[in-house]
Amino acid sequence: SVGKDAEYMREELERFTAATGHTAEVVAMPASTTDQFAQYKTWLSAQTSDIDIYQVDVIWAPQIDSHLTDLKAAMAGEIGDFFPSIVESQTVNDRLVAVPLFTDAPVLYYRKDLLEKHGKSVPTTWAEMTQTAKEVMDAERAAGNDKMWGFVFQGNAYEGLTCDALEWIKSHDGGQIVEPDGSISVNNPNAAKALELAKSWVGGISPPGVLSYQEEEARGVWQTGNAVFMRNWPYAYSLGQGEDSAVRGKFDVATLPHGGGKSAATLGGWNLAVSKYSENQEAAIELVKFLTSHDAQKRRALTLTQLPTRPALYDDADVAAVAPFFKGMVNTFLTAVSRPSAPTKRKYNEVSQAFWSAAHKTLSGDGSAAENLAELENKLKRIRGRSW
Ligand code: GLC
Repeated sequence: SVGKDAEYMREELERFTAATGHTAEVVAMPASTTDQFAQYKTWLSAQTSDIDIYQVDVIWAPQIDSHLTDLKAAMAGEIGDFFPSIVESQTVNDRLVAVPLFTDAPVLYYRKDLLEKHGKSVPTTWAEMTQTAKEVMDAERAAGNDKMWGFVFQGNAYEGLTCDALEWIKSHDGGQIVEPDGSISVNNPNAAKALELAKSWVGGISPPGVLSYQEEEARGVWQTGNAVFMRNWPYAYSLGQGEDSAVRGKFDVATLPHGGGKSAATLGGWNLAVSKYSENQEAAIELVKFLTSHDAQKRRALTLTQLPTRPALYDDADVAAVAPFFKGMVNTFLTAVSRPSAPTKRKYNEVSQAFWSAAHKTLSGDGSAAENLAELENKLKRIRGRSW
């Protein structure tokens, strides 16, 4: 859970109880998707019936599908109203193992007021972003704001860094770690160049502590007004516009910069799955339907600025009024880069861990990008063995 996720889910459950008489409780999860996955694996391998519904990350379906109920028949009447590509990502061996709750694609948050004040435009390349971040940060510090940083992102060693580093590499034409055909592509000069650039940020335009930042730590620095740019997911938009936010009304969002290739945003998102071990299959399915319904997704978009998984909501005037950038996000997430969870199947978590470790080592100054990527390639070959 990040931001107000858990709190909001409790409110939705009250609505569900009022509508159906069923009761449900939220078990709050750690903010890190990596930690959450470890907890889920423990529960699922113990076949616990304590948890009826799991909120699952878009990358997990091929790793835990055997523990989940096939929702295809239950959703038959309405699944056509969801984005087909997201539905497909949650379909394993022709079984619909989770229903899309919200989708996710990151944006570049920028301080409109500061760029205007210093006569800068919104950067479209990483090199430009680096330059602008430095100039604005230096000028603000010289003017007395010594807490100001240029750029915050997710540099901790976890799944979030896999997302960020994949964006740097892909947008430098350095591929997507393991390609859709299963080939290991990550050890290449463009990927190394991307990681070296990111390394130059640490302790320069980014705080040294960025090496332990996840989404919420980056948002913390940003939302107190101490960063010019931030890479984050759309949930940070509504929180940034909140009454207690120092950046309320002072920022906007743009497409992530590129490194010579095309801008690349990693596809994220969360889905609802019913555990095969739940003893309340029918009520669980009812709740999944309730939470993924048109009305519930609209409320979620308005309250949490999380991206709906139903195309119709992108034409909704109320949604457009609260989050004007949503309309452009359809193209962003439909063309977003996928993490290699489909080609690497049950080995994805190991692949991602090897990748984020290599990226984290590089950012920390432990070996050059080229050395770490060569080592990563060998590691990935060992993980693959004869086949994924
Ligand atoms: C967001 C994304 C999710 C991703 C995670 C990484 O929650 O929706 O897909 O794995 O960030 O931190």
